[in-house]
Amino acid sequence: MPDKTTSTANQSEKVSPSPEFRKQATIGSMAEYKRLYKESVESPEKFWNAQAKELLQWRKPWKKTLEWKEPQAKWFVGGKLNVCENCVDRHLGTARENKAALIFEGEPGDQQTLTYKQLHVEVCKFANVLESLGVKKGDRIAIYMPMTCEAVVAMLASARIGAVHTVIFGGFSSESIKDRVNDCQAKVVVTADGGWRRGSVVDLKKNVNAAMAGCSTVTNVVVVKRIGNRVSMKQGRDLWYHTLMNEASHKHAAKAFDAETPLFILYTSGSTGKPKGVLHTSGGYLLGTTMTSKYVFDLKESDTYWCTADIGWITGHSYVTYGILSNGATNVIYEGAPNYPEVDRFWDIVERHRVTIFYTAPTAIRAFMKWGSEHIEKHDLSSLRLLGSVGEPINPEAWKWYHKTIGGGRCPIVDTWWQTETGGIMITTLPGAAYSKPGSAGLPFFGVVPKVFNDEGHEVRRGDGGKLVLTQPWPSMLRGLYGDKKRYKETYWSEYKGVYFCGDGCKQDKDGYFWIVGRIDDVLNVSGHRIGTAEVESALVGHGGVAEAAVVGRPHDLKGSAVVCFVTLKEGVAMTDELRRELREHVGKEIGAIAKPDEVRFAPALPKTRSGKIMRRLLKDIAAGKEIKQDTTTLEDLNVVKALQKG
Ligand code: WT7
Repeated sequence: MPDKTTSTANQSEKVSPSPEFRKQATIGSMAEYKRLYKESVESPEKFWNAQAKELLQWRKPWKKTLEWKEPQAKWFVGGKLNVCENCVDRHLGTARENKAALIFEGEPGDQQTLTYKQLHVEVCKFANVLESLGVKKGDRIAIYMPMTCEAVVAMLASARIGAVHTVIFGGFSSESIKDRVNDCQAKVVVTADGGWRRGSVVDLKKNVNAAMAGCSTVTNVVVVKRIGNRVSMKQGRDLWYHTLMNEASHKHAAKAFDAETPLFILYTSGSTGKPKGVLHTSGGYLLGTTMTSKYVFDLKESDTYWCTADIGWITGHSYVTYGILSNGATNVIYEGAPNYPEVDRFWDIVERHRVTIFYTAPTAIRAFMKWGSEHIEKHDLSSLRLLGSVGEPINPEAWKWYHKTIGGGRCPIVDTWWQTETGGIMITTLPGAAYSKPGSAGLPFFGVVPKVFNDEGHEVRRGDGGKLVLTQPWPSMLRGLYGDKKRYKETYWSEYKGVYFCGDGCKQDKDGYFWIVGRIDDVLNVSGHRIGTAEVESALVGHGGVAEAAVVGRPHDLKGSAVVCFVTLKEGVAMTDELRRELREHVGKEIGAIAKPDEVRFAPALPKTRSGKIMRRLLKDIAAGKEIKQDTTTLEDLNVVKALQKG
């Protein structure tokens, strides 16, 4: 997969923003970008002080901008603010108060608009509800919801009272809910009676019910009525959202919290079996997301912005909820699938709501390409002025199609590289300042100092491949992995001394542009989502018939990576297609549909080195149908490879 991006790319191809775009852009020239960038890395404290003062509303100023004891950062030490107040209350009493904050469109076509004033009422009420259920500062609440206004309200209400939310993507299984709720010991779960996906009901409440059997810390489950279907409610534990909201006061005084107050935990896959709880805090995270929204998307309050990500992922946290509302823009949210009822649903939404900024993932762009331009051409997309891409490297072919067919050749594209851990965008081209190179994320954002290292920890020459590291702390960086200091240090700060290693391979070209090659650890990028191979393996060996499993990625035209599993079976278990199907379903049930294997291959044995390590690189080549040129001299049994190639 990695090579797909760079092999077809022409590294000297440049696409510049139009003079009209430049003229209206907040940062409209390369000179301006360079000046600010220089200041941000040469005098970071001065730079961040000024940005934090300008972009956020503080209740108490900070004493120290950064306290850095590697790998632990504290930003704006001593400062106090309320994140929710910044995203909602500060727009009241201004021209923004009666404009739409959220425009929701459900999959069946139902719509709801909340102005900033109305959003404020909902958030205050739900903050009171949470407090009435005994949720206090520092308590964790889990949110397992469809993409609705209530999901955003729940996040903001949690932030408002200093609680810590963990949003669990609605496509995850009950097992995944259980693991996450137990890991962070959540007190309350907010869910819905269901959500719509491709015309069917996703039974969220049923999954929560199944999970709750193994979750002893949860005292209440709050259920939003989205579908109106019958769900089983446990007396004393389960409460209807609308009943609680009807009784709640719309007045809620937001307290000020320390800048380092935990805001949320978001679980993401790593190279071991258990997802990691990435922890983000308040002041630095909000500054990072507010500022990148403003400069990278050139976001203005007059914009109608739409990011297609679900709030279950970091993109939905940073660029649906926090960064966008903090800037007072109008935010479109859509519940359902891109191809329901027809493959033009997204373009219909863009046209009807006059969306100006559109942010999505390459996997979606490739699907639209496949479905055909005729579905797009029938819509008026002239409201669009900027496009964004996130989640995986975008292949130049998809970039150009996106630019021409969706952007009408006039919209700059920002290809944004970042991670759950970085909180906000790290590498991209500022749209009014820099030219883009199709396939390259571009240049570092303010305060970001990326370098490409070789295995020995030296910077490689421009043009050579290596591992991408970040050498300076930044405000929106993760503060750790929830409850696991050791793993935080080992995962990010142990590959090289003193720098953050992100897990991606990369190249920097002669113009300083970064070309991300993709993950180089045991993490797959499937449709822009991170899937840990170890997680899938552990799900597979949890099935009664499986002896051993190894999971690798294979390049896939639409999804980026396909999940291929090599499985050996227990004595007496037959290799049938029925079992293949069963294993796919089993992984879906254990993790969620996004992790379902594309292929299950039965193998008599797995290729191992003499010291017993599974040779994953070899399996990757076999999965991709490549000729085996690798050195197999350390292989325990050469016949294994022959058998695998056949099977
Ligand atoms: C991994 C992070 C960032 C929010 C969505 C995914 C890959 C992300 C790009 C991009 C090339 C990208 C990287 C990264 N990635 N954006 N523009 N170009 N690769 O967040 O689940 O934390 O995954 O996604 O491999 O490490 P995530």
